Amino acid sequence: MKVLVIGGGGREHALVWAVRQSVRVREVVCAPGNGGIAALARCVPVDQKDLPDLVRVAVAEQPDLTIVGPEIPLSLGLVDELTRRGMRVFGPTQRAAMLETSKVFAKEFMLRHHLPTAHYAVCQSDSEVHEALAHFHAPIVVKADGLAAGKGVAICASKEEAEEAATQMLSGVYLGAIQHKVILEEFLEGEEISLLALADGRTAIPLAAAQDHKRIGEGDTGPNTGGMGAYSTDELLEPHMRDWLMAHVVQPVIDGMAAEGAPFTGVLYCGLMMTARGPMVLEFNTRFGDPETQAILPRLEGGLLEAMEAAVEGRLDQVRLAWRKQPSVTVIAASQGYPGSVKTGHAITGLDEAAKEEGVTIFHSGTANVENKSVTAGGRVLAVTALADTLQAACERAYAALGRIHFDGIYYRRDIAHRALEQKKEKK
Ligand code: AMP
Ligand code: GLY
Repeated sequence: MKVLVIGGGGREHALVWAVRQSVRVREVVCAPGNGGIAALARCVPVDQKDLPDLVRVAVAEQPDLTIVGPEIPLSLGLVDELTRRGMRVFGPTQRAAMLETSKVFAKEFMLRHHLPTAHYAVCQSDSEVHEALAHFHAPIVVKADGLAAGKGVAICASKEEAEEAATQMLSGVYLGAIQHKVILEEFLEGEEISLLALADGRTAIPLAAAQDHKRIGEGDTGPNTGGMGAYSTDELLEPHMRDWLMAHVVQPVIDGMAAEGAPFTGVLYCGLMMTARGPMVLEFNTRFGDPETQAILPRLEGGLLEAMEAAVEGRLDQVRLAWRKQPSVTVIAASQGYPGSVKTGHAITGLDEAAKEEGVTIFHSGTANVENKSVTAGGRVLAVTALADTLQAACERAYAALGRIHFDGIYYRRDIAHRALEQKKEKK
């Protein structure tokens, strides 16, 4: 069969890599892909923000299955358009994707369906912000309603700071685009976990849980990024807690969306905070996480493509995924200056040597091939994943591989999975 993957980051490299493992796959096309994906798939150019262009590529390629990676094509209604043309697509419709594309929709949905989440207020004007703040204690979280590529959340130490952030979001100063609604939210404390589940509109099955590292600096300092690393181990989420989350968060979302006439098919990403009051939903994404996917998929014992087909065909109740016991660690190598502006076009060396390290897989996030050589082409450049028998050993393998890779201005956090390793030491 022929598979089309939409997107061009590390997540899509991991998706292409996993889909390629199926013997039934004859051809993979990736639009637009990147320098690393080009080794596994035919890459075709596309403007991911242009719905007619995305539809054009899918119609021209006539794949047996299309997998949509990023949120923008989902928000534009790519799944609806391709489904209308009789094509098979893995991903939610535009309406179902509102769980991600509108934080106000997601919060109100959670309230309607009694899902555990932080207390909040929705405000549409400066005066509403001012009035609502009377009911909050600092710190306060301020969130833009719409998609903001990870930049739409401000954690504010005081009410004054929250008022300023909310006002700037409403006026457009904060994100460069006006937000008609902002959310003020109670600040939650605890461990963050990403729990992803495949869904077919009725049934959901969990993937192995992961933890992301959003801040640029070691010790979780500095600005938020798209994600600087992730790890996945069975210890992150005990089976009884995973079952609780499936029963009390994931399944109610799937049932609630179906009851509201927008059945959810694809992958539901639950960003959770494990608080003293119990698990709380921070956010939903309606796609695979990046870099969580690069940590999660190498732990899967095959069968991703078949599970995605089952999701599209409403047969997920017949699917069981098997996972390796081995933990994984993914470290992102970024360009100097990220998450701000970066210079690209720097030659990358050592990729072949790094890939030879035992248990290591290298996914490309932002690379291009120029005259048969890999060069940097984005803020996040590579995602280096290692599997090993222990988390500590997986970390050592990932960093050993990274030590072989060079490009001008390479930056990576040296403390990915540090909190889990420290907790282990404390337990001993
Ligand atoms: P979101 O885009 O909603 O996931 O928010 C980005 C990041 O902000 C999350 O991964 C959390 O680290 C943090 N965050 C969001 N909401 C809260 C909250 N209510 N309390 C504490 N931290 C939060
Ligand atoms: N790693 C966070 C995200 O994919 O949104």
